[in-house]
Amino acid sequence: MTSETIAPPATEVTTDDRPRLSHETTRGLRCRNCGREEALGPSYVCPACFGPLEVTYDYEAIRARISPDTITARPPGIWRYLELLPVEAPPPRGLAVGSSPLLPGARIGRELGLEHLWLKDDTRNPTLSFKDRVVAVATARALTFGFDTLACASTGNLAGATAAAAAAVGLRAFVFVPADLEPAKVSHALAYGATVVRIDGTYDELNRLCLEVADEENWAFVNVNLRPFYAEGSKTLGLEIAEQLGWRLPDVVVVPVASGALLTKVAKAFEELALVGLIEPRPVRFVGAQAAGCSPVATAFARGSDEIAPVRNPDTIVKSLAIGSPADGRYALDIARRTGGSVEAVEDATTAGWIRRLAATEGIFTETAGGVTLGAVDAARRRGIIGPDDEVVALLTGNGLKTPDARLFGLDANGSSAAQTGLTPPIRPSLDAFEEWLSSGAWSREPVGGLA
Ligand SMILES: Cc1ncc(COP(=O)(O)O)c(C=O)c1O
Ligand SMILES: [Zn+2]
Repeated sequence: MTSETIAPPATEVTTDDRPRLSHETTRGLRCRNCGREEALGPSYVCPACFGPLEVTYDYEAIRARISPDTITARPPGIWRYLELLPVEAPPPRGLAVGSSPLLPGARIGRELGLEHLWLKDDTRNPTLSFKDRVVAVATARALTFGFDTLACASTGNLAGATAAAAAAVGLRAFVFVPADLEPAKVSHALAYGATVVRIDGTYDELNRLCLEVADEENWAFVNVNLRPFYAEGSKTLGLEIAEQLGWRLPDVVVVPVASGALLTKVAKAFEELALVGLIEPRPVRFVGAQAAGCSPVATAFARGSDEIAPVRNPDTIVKSLAIGSPADGRYALDIARRTGGSVEAVEDATTAGWIRRLAATEGIFTETAGGVTLGAVDAARRRGIIGPDDEVVALLTGNGLKTPDARLFGLDANGSSAAQTGLTPPIRPSLDAFEEWLSSGAWSREPVGGLA
């Protein structure tokens, strides 16, 4: 290990000594509750009302500096939208994040009764989820704020993204994950040299712990003390969608919801694009997607309530979305309601079916969150929130190799069931055995569908 990968011990930097940065287009921070303005710094709660802080920009200055042509001429990746991100300059080092394809989903669209479905394939980022976007922005800020340790409270994908980003820029990483996390996600974070802190509790319990640790240790918790910067990274998904559609917006966007930050920030991206003159404003309906076993926002939506009752014990295979007390839940709920969208709760068996159906019709293997998203497209379509002629963009935010639970694919605990997968016991290495197996038809599969 070199001093490149493990930073030297923290030099004592107190909050007050940390540099306060100015930016040509970034103004500062503002409380989303009471509107109080704060200087740009590693802070995330309003000192007056404890509301969440959000980055603000000088939209007039941005309007004067960028046009579709200036952006299109830039290299691919999230930094092509630099003026709309809270970073002064692209960091000198780091992973290649963003500019994921927006693919026409004609075959899966037919199954969903949609003529114009787009799949934003964010399964292809460096650590195979959209979390690379948020981490890239938080890491750039962590470097300018002078931190030497990156940390996060993760439902899984964030751990890998944080670990990889830290490795790429030479910071130390501590990632906090629930102890029951999928082993693939744990080994993924370990591979990058991160310290994985396994917590025997729910995401909400470990998140509360991280709030306390962030107060004690001088670490850059990407989604705690750097949350205002981190969350802005999610805007790049919305910015890319608009650019890839030829600088215009679709009718509907379907977004998986855990903390609710992603949905909120894609909406903010669309608003900002109109504010800076890159697109014509138009109404977009937002549909949120949650797993039924942890669906506090969908439950509030269904009840017509503004209160989001926490889910104390999430029970779902969709671990990436298992946040029982979502920090941005009420903002996501409000956007879904205000725009004429919805928040849907999808059962695990339905999620499993859509993962397989997507892979079999489009060749895209998504993690469980993507199955939930397609389940939400289907549910919103059936309820008339989405019409057959609507142009719909579904966000596929993580790769299926991260959640390789055999049960998702119709295998039993020993991996031997042939019911829906066509996977049969091994055969002898002889042509006779093969011909016998082929003519038996034992390998033939049921049409791809939901798991019962
Ligand atoms: C794959 C995937 N999609 C979507 C989300 C939702 O993100 P947010 O917490 O911003 O709602 C997460 C969060 O961990 C995730 O891992
Ligand atoms: Zn406030």
